Order: sequence, then C-alpha cells, then structure tokens
Amino acid sequence: MKLMVIGGGGREHAIIRKLKENPAAEVIYALPGNGGIAADAECVDIKATDIAGITAFAKENAIDYAVVAPDDPLVLGCVDALEAEGIPCFGPRANAAIIEGSKVFSKNLMRKYGIPTAAYETFDDMDAALAYLDTAPVPTVIKADGLALGKGVIIAQTRDEAKAAVVSMMRDRQFGKSGEHIVIEEFLTGPEVSVLSFTDGETLVPMVSSMDHKRAGDNDTGLNTGGMGTVAPNPYYTADIAEQCMNTIFLPTVRAMKAEGREFRGCLYFGLMITPDGPKVIEYNCRFGDPETQVVLPLLESDLLTVMQAVTNGTLKDTEVRFSAGHACCVVLASAGYPVSYGKGYEITVPADVAKQVYVAGAALKDGKLVTAGGRVLGVTATADTLKQAVTAAYEAADKITFENRYCRRDIGARALAAGK
Ligand code: AMP
Ligand code: GLY
Repeated sequence: MKLMVIGGGGREHAIIRKLKENPAAEVIYALPGNGGIAADAECVDIKATDIAGITAFAKENAIDYAVVAPDDPLVLGCVDALEAEGIPCFGPRANAAIIEGSKVFSKNLMRKYGIPTAAYETFDDMDAALAYLDTAPVPTVIKADGLALGKGVIIAQTRDEAKAAVVSMMRDRQFGKSGEHIVIEEFLTGPEVSVLSFTDGETLVPMVSSMDHKRAGDNDTGLNTGGMGTVAPNPYYTADIAEQCMNTIFLPTVRAMKAEGREFRGCLYFGLMITPDGPKVIEYNCRFGDPETQVVLPLLESDLLTVMQAVTNGTLKDTEVRFSAGHACCVVLASAGYPVSYGKGYEITVPADVAKQVYVAGAALKDGKLVTAGGRVLGVTATADTLKQAVTAAYEAADKITFENRYCRRDIGARALAAGK
C-alpha cells in the first residue's frame, strides 16, 4: 500500500513510525514531513494547508490511504477533497472538524446536549462583551473562536485584564479573524487530562490517557507552549473518572455530532479538567495531540493502520484496540527562547542507540546533517513498566542528544509521580 501522512511535526513522526510496523505499508509519503521524518518516510515539499497540491499529489501517485494529522487542513476540508477523488482517509470531514475549528460551535454543542463544560457566554460585539465583564466573576477565561495555534486562550485574573484581552482579540485582531467571535467562560480548577480516542462516528474507543506540560518552565511557570513533554497514562484519570467520562462526555459527544449531521470519524481529542464537580470538557481537538501522540502510540500494541482503516470503514466495533499496561514519558528538547524567539540552524547530534526513541519536530537537513529549524526541535520518548522508570529513561536518552541552545524542562512527569503515590 502507498500511504500519505499530512503534516510535519513530532506527532506525524510518531504516526509514521507506527504505521511502518505494518508490512503492508510499502511506501509512506510525508507532506511536507521534516528533516528527521525523512529517515522514515519520503518527504514531499507540499504544505499541509495546500489542499489542491495534496489532492493532485495523491491522485498522481495513486495513494491508497491518507492520514490527515494537523488541525488546519482538517478544518479546511482536506479529507473532503481527498474523498472526492476516491482516496480513503483517516480524519474528520470539515463539517466535523469544526468541533475544534470553532469554540462557539463546540460550546453550543455541549450546552445543547448537556455535556459538562465551563459555563459561558458568546459574543460577536465588543461592547456587549465589555459590558458583560463589568459583572462577570474573575478569574475568567477569554477564548478566540477559531484556530489560533493554541494561543487564543487568555486566563484573566482581573476585570481589567479580561477587558484588555477582549479589545486585543476583537478590535486589534491579535488572532486575525479568529477574534471576530469570542467565548467568555468560567474559570475551572483541577488537574487536566488529555484523552485521545478513535471513533468511527458510532463506536468510540479511548486511547490510554495522558498529561501534557504546557508551560515553558519547570513547575508550570512561564509562557504557554505547544507542549514541553507528556506522560501516559495520567494518574488522575482513575477507572471511576474514565467511566464518568465515557457516559457523560465521550459517547454523548459522538452521538451529538451524529445527530447534528456531522458524524466524526478520526481521532477525537478530549481536553478535560477533573473539577470538584466531576470531569468537564476544556476543549475538543479534531486530531491527535502533539506531544500526546508521542507517548500514546508507543503504548499501542494493536496495528495502527488496521485500527485507522476500521475507523474509516465504520468497523471499529469489531476491531481490537489494545494498549500495553506500561508507562511512557516524552521530553521535548526545544531551542532556548521558545516560544518567543530562538536561533535556528544548529547541528543536532543523535547517538544511534537512542535514534528510535526520537520523534523529530522542528529540524531540517542541511548538507546531509540534521539542524534545528523550529522552537520545539524533537521529543524523546521512553516506555517502561513504571512511570518512574519511563521518566528516568526518557531523560537519560534526551541527555545524550546535543545541539546549541538546547533547552528542556527537567520536571516532566514530576507532578504525575507525586499524584500517583
Ligand atoms: P485550550 O487551548 O482551550 O486547551 O486552553 C489552553 C489552556 O488554558 C488549557 O489547557 C487550560 O490549562 C487553560 N484553560 C482553558 N479553559 C479554561 C477554563 N475554563 N478554566 C481554567 N483553565 C482553562
Ligand atoms: N498538546 C496539545 C495539543 O495538541 O493541542
């Protein structure tokens, strides 16, 4: 089979590695991939948002199956375009990807179907939003409606901060068109859990839970990032919480999307907060998380390609999806200065004995050598029987990798270890 994976980060690298385990995968193209992915797939210089270019490539190369991994092509209708050419895909169509593409849509969906989430109001008029903030409780959370590279969420401690956020989104268009509509919602507290799931629109199978570490600095200080590391499973996600989530959140969401004529097939990602009132949805994503995928897929024992095809064909109910009982930890190696500004082009040295643990996110090939090309450069994953062993092994492997300005958090997994005791 000829496979094609859209995207070019650490998540896509982890997906490609797992797909390669199936001998039926003769060729895997990555569009655009990156300098590190090039060791595992054939990279093609077509952007993930170039839907026409992707579709033309797929036709010309007789692609048998496509995996669309990032949010923007999904929201732009990449799956719809490929399906129109008869190419089966893993990923939701645009009318279902809206669950991530519009926070106004997802909040209204949850309200309509009674799915637990933070109380909220939506606004498309700045003055109305500002007037509402005169009496809203603080802290409060302001969210731009559309995709904003994970940055469209502001937690305001005071009313003045909240108003400044509204003005920057709605008048100054800090996040472009995403700020035309906004959500102002209740500030929730509690540990966060990420649950990725496979769903074919009827059946939903949760993957092993995980914990992201979003802040740049140790002890969850500093700016929000795309994710500085992950562990799986997440100790806060107990069997009891998992059952509550299945009954009050996961299945109701899949049924709600179907009832709305927006059947969701692909990976549905639940960003949850375990509040004192039970688990609530913080956000939905229409795709695998990054760097959650880098700890979840290494624990998948079943064949990924088989599971993905079952999602596409609507036969997930009859397909085994088995995870190991082990633990995984992924430490992200970034360029110092991320997420603000950082240098690029530094040579990366990865010893051969850890290469298989490395998922490359932001790196390019220059004169045959791997050099840094992004803020998050790579993720290093280890799996083990216990979380402690996985964390230790991930740092041991990560510390063998060198490049100038290399930065990582030193406390990935620390909170999970403390909670697990
Ligand atoms: P999101 O992009 O929606 O995942 O939001 C980014 C981060 O903001 C989340 O991971 C949470 O840590 C935080 N956050 C979002 N919404 C809320 C909320 N209603 N209450 C507290 N924290 C929130
Ligand atoms: N790690 C969070 C995300 O992929 O959205």
